Amino acid sequence: MRDAERQATLDAIGAEVAACTRCRLHEGRTRAVPGEGTAATEVVFVGEGPGFNEDRQGRPFVGQAGSLLDELLASVLWSRDEVFITNVVKCRPPGNRDPEPDEIAACAPHLTRQLEVLDPALVVTLGRFSMARFSPGARIGQVHGTFRAADAASGAPNALTFAMYHPAAALHQGSLKQTLFADMQGVPRALTEARALRAGDRAPEEPSATIVTVPSPVAADPPAVTPDPEAAPDTTADAGVEFNPTAQLGLF
Ligand code: URA
Repeated sequence: MRDAERQATLDAIGAEVAACTRCRLHEGRTRAVPGEGTAATEVVFVGEGPGFNEDRQGRPFVGQAGSLLDELLASVLWSRDEVFITNVVKCRPPGNRDPEPDEIAACAPHLTRQLEVLDPALVVTLGRFSMARFSPGARIGQVHGTFRAADAASGAPNALTFAMYHPAAALHQGSLKQTLFADMQGVPRALTEARALRAGDRAPEEPSATIVTVPSPVAADPPAVTPDPEAAPDTTADAGVEFNPTAQLGLF
């Protein structure tokens, strides 16, 4: 699928999410929050659900937890424009309570379709509700900072998934902030592993590969993002041939 097609499909899913009445959360929402980012990415971040600010703006991670997520991305020299950010539930649970199992189940097809369109190499889960979808049965205290093959039923059967605490948890429990930043250093390495796995260079590491944190992120490859044809027309590309970002990076 070409990136423009991916984007159009994501937009169509976003429009369905905005009109969704599949669960009770639609009753209290100001705006649904489908997710945002680039359709050309290899990396998807999945949080829990919109909070107060996200509900007002219709955008994911724009409050305090969002600022921390921006800092985490910046710590590995990435930015939110290079990834896609979404949530397990797309409407704000009242009072920021945890999403109920039936709400998560009702919203699941939206995330599944987003993942099918994006076909990410790496899914970074933020918090236990997101982790439960990609690594059922895992415990966040044990698996944070590590990656494994994503559960096939998650919608991203060809992805690795990397577990992180939710940024909001660090706002309540200061000591987790250091853990989040340490764990984040392992994300670029997980992307490199995910690329190698997709290229068939190695068998999946079972059950999980523990990340050795990398002190300097300077050399880390950013997620592949294809150039915006509006901003920078690529006159070297063959008409009708899909651009392959991984080939550009020489990793495939
Ligand atoms: N917390 C989440 O899980 N998602 C958001 O979009 C914002 C805060």
